[in-house]
Amino acid sequence: MGTSAKALDAIKNSLGIPSRYPDGSAIELRKNLANFNNININNIICGNGSDEILSMFANCFAGQNDEIIYSEHGFLVYPIATKAAGAIPIIAKEKNYKANVEEIIKVCSSKTKVCFIANPNNPTGTYLTRDELITLRQKLPINCLLVIDSAYAEYVEKEDYTNGFDLVNKFENVACTRTFSKIYGLAALRIGWAYASLDVIDYLNRIRLPFNINTIAQNAAIAAIQDQLFIRKAIKHNNIWKNYIEKELIDLGINIIPGVGNFVLAQYNNIEQANNCYIYLEENNIFVRKVSEYGLADCLRITVGLEKENIYLIKIIKNFIENN
Ligand SMILES: Cc1ncc(COP(=O)(O)O)c(C=O)c1O
Repeated sequence: MGTSAKALDAIKNSLGIPSRYPDGSAIELRKNLANFNNININNIICGNGSDEILSMFANCFAGQNDEIIYSEHGFLVYPIATKAAGAIPIIAKEKNYKANVEEIIKVCSSKTKVCFIANPNNPTGTYLTRDELITLRQKLPINCLLVIDSAYAEYVEKEDYTNGFDLVNKFENVACTRTFSKIYGLAALRIGWAYASLDVIDYLNRIRLPFNINTIAQNAAIAAIQDQLFIRKAIKHNNIWKNYIEKELIDLGINIIPGVGNFVLAQYNNIEQANNCYIYLEENNIFVRKVSEYGLADCLRITVGLEKENIYLIKIIKNFIENN
């Protein structure tokens, strides 16, 4: 769906003042986030993409000889952030491509300082329910911070799902990250944020660089929050076209890992078929994501596109299946 026209206007209107430093506290943006989400501004920190904040969690709460847990097919920024902090990555097994509370608890130790859960996860699209997250929090060591990465939260309409805010309100050792890169369509401007207890926010602010979000990004994000009509349209569009892509792929004999989010994880008969389909799509100007580095070499992640792109995608995959 691209970017809200109002956010694009805000970007154009911000171009005239590059000689001034940005607001280092992102006050207006945090005010808008607080109002829109009905939370306290002091519990919010903004980052240069949520990637920066994920990295800050690792740097703040873990160091040499500490352990950070994430799940088998978890988002790949977690190992990067863990290793950059000098900590030890610990990988918990998944069940049916979904993070599993028991498996996470099995690999916990007295050295576990952070547990990252992408909810829903990229690239599997699977999620832990609110009840599962509460069980996880109750079973994790008390001094291990549970970071719920809700980058795709806006797309999820399941009743048993939580974006994590209620858990932050309930537990001091839960934090939640969000982003403007997905439904808000501002990935290039790098802007994300976290909601956490005052203590956690205080620690993060001690290592945050003073001007981590530029003025254009701050203004664009404010305008984007204020254009919720665009967000509602994007959710509706995603529901319709994600269902369409999934149904068509199933009809073509391709397995779908059932997930929520703005992408489909298509599982082929084998690695060779996935690779050949990837090449065929590329030759036809369709660029999807190989996910072999996630341990999913027989899968491709396909992001929901515009109507004509989705129809073209299915046409090309149909040609591929018929000719291979
Ligand atoms: C699960 C998840 N978390 C976080 C991010 C990072 O987003 P950002 O652009 O805010 O750094 C992504 C981006 O792909 C993601 O898939």
